[in-house]
Amino acid sequence: MQWIIKFSRFFSAAMLVIFLSPSLQSYPPAEAIRSSYHIPHDYRFSFRNSPSFRNADECDSVSDEISVCDPSLVHVAITLDIDYLRGSIAAVHSILRHAFCPESIFFHFLVTDTNLEALVQSTFPQLKFKVYYFDPSVVKNLISSSVRQALEQPLNYARNYLADLLETCVRRVIYLDSDLVVVDDVAKLWSTDLGLKTIGAPEYCHANFTKYFTAGFWAEPDFAATFERRKVCYFNTGVMVMDLVRWRKEGYTKKIEKWMEIQKSERIYELGSLPPFLLVFAGHVAGIEHRWNQHGLGGDNVKGSCRDLHAGPVSLLHWSGSGKPWIRLDSRNPCPLDALWAPFDLYGYGHGHEHGHIHESS
Ligand SMILES: *[C@@H]1O[C@H](CO)[C@@H](O)[C@H](O)[C@H]1NC(C)=O
Repeated sequence: MQWIIKFSRFFSAAMLVIFLSPSLQSYPPAEAIRSSYHIPHDYRFSFRNSPSFRNADECDSVSDEISVCDPSLVHVAITLDIDYLRGSIAAVHSILRHAFCPESIFFHFLVTDTNLEALVQSTFPQLKFKVYYFDPSVVKNLISSSVRQALEQPLNYARNYLADLLETCVRRVIYLDSDLVVVDDVAKLWSTDLGLKTIGAPEYCHANFTKYFTAGFWAEPDFAATFERRKVCYFNTGVMVMDLVRWRKEGYTKKIEKWMEIQKSERIYELGSLPPFLLVFAGHVAGIEHRWNQHGLGGDNVKGSCRDLHAGPVSLLHWSGSGKPWIRLDSRNPCPLDALWAPFDLYGYGHGHEHGHIHESS
């Protein structure tokens, strides 16, 4: 048994070296993110088992056969993109580690090309989850080129379709990006009061809103009028609490698609999936405490430089921007705050600071 483990550890390390080192040297950081990071073929053996997580005594008791429609569940939606898989797994791990009632969380995973169900099942044996296939052709013709290739991936747009993809009995969902970790009980975010609003997110009213749209957009009175009589503030779409009942009723998916259609011919913005959300929701967002999205830790879109935390308490750390902690840690050139991501990484055997579950049980 021992030699198999040794061999597979060697093998994963070798794969990392083979896949990561040549490309990291030859690509600028922004491209390296998508084009160089590949995970070995048998994904199940690429991640260590997560420790098991149990509800505290004070939680509602949850049976293993609980239905996705059970009203006591907290619903979280995350994409599983091959290039961000390590980030998604770390995000799930971080949520479970900090939840008072981890067994009461139901995960909705959105995928495009691969069946990653076995990977999730083996990494998190007790997890309540469902995998949803998001058909890339739904958005293929709606995606325009943006400043970063990673922003053009179809799965980036899956958040627009959560109201359609998830069971209609799911009335609310927390959408989370794959490059973040939660360091607080996600149930607190879940219980946010949205009032009459459809989505909740931390708002940044001092950010210069103008720069998210092109000069052409502001020069066209019909477009600019969109924001008239709205107290618009920037918000990040990587952390959102969404009222799916209201979303379905108001048909927001179609409203977002309408702006994506316009973008194809008019070039009204430079980023990917974010600006259509700003167009539809800015000024109509339930403000959530800033602690729930300490964003920008990935660094600048162009330079990939290190960032510091914003002032105030922290419940969620978000490596938005072009730099990702797993890439920087592997390249042995991490930013200081990447050390806060590392404890949630389950990738590889004996990779980083701890040894794998399989190794211990052998
Ligand atoms: C906001 O950004 C726009 C476009 O980049 C710029 O022209 C404008 O001066 C900025 N406004 C402020 C207050 O910084």
